[in-house]
Amino acid sequence: AAADPAKGEKVFGKCKACHKLEDGANGTGPHLYGVVDRAVGSIDGFGYSGALVAVADVWDAEHLFGFLENPKGYAPGTKMGFAGLKKADDRVNLIAYLKTIGG
Ligand code: HEM
Repeated sequence: AAADPAKGEKVFGKCKACHKLEDGANGTGPHLYGVVDRAVGSIDGFGYSGALVAVADVWDAEHLFGFLENPKGYAPGTKMGFAGLKKADDRVNLIAYLKTIGG
């Protein structure tokens, strides 16, 4: 099925406790405004673990797809405390949604 950003917006509900979509609005996690094709670990003032820059330079769709399936498997040592999205469709739809936010 084609990527569906509206379904992806619902999937984003799993991220909301830690991530906001407004530029500059960091919480437990860095804000995700414009995150698709954003440089990894690049938000000023957010205290990253250092584990993400070890595995990717830019959050293109392919890297997001891998990271979001299994964050701790993909980026050992990450402090993102999230089990991952096991369904590929959920990840595809979520990435399609995130593409619509800023950038
Ligand atoms: C980092 C996405 C769920 C906490 C990140 C990054 C992305 C991301 C793309 C890297 C950003 C960057 O390099 O600037 C998502 C998505 C989620 C999700 C799409 C839902 C499917 C969560 C949840 C939490 C969380 C539920 C908190 C329990 C964090 C933290 C980091 C992070 C602390 C920094 C990791 C580190 O420095 O190792 N997230 N996240 N995330 N996220 Fe999430």
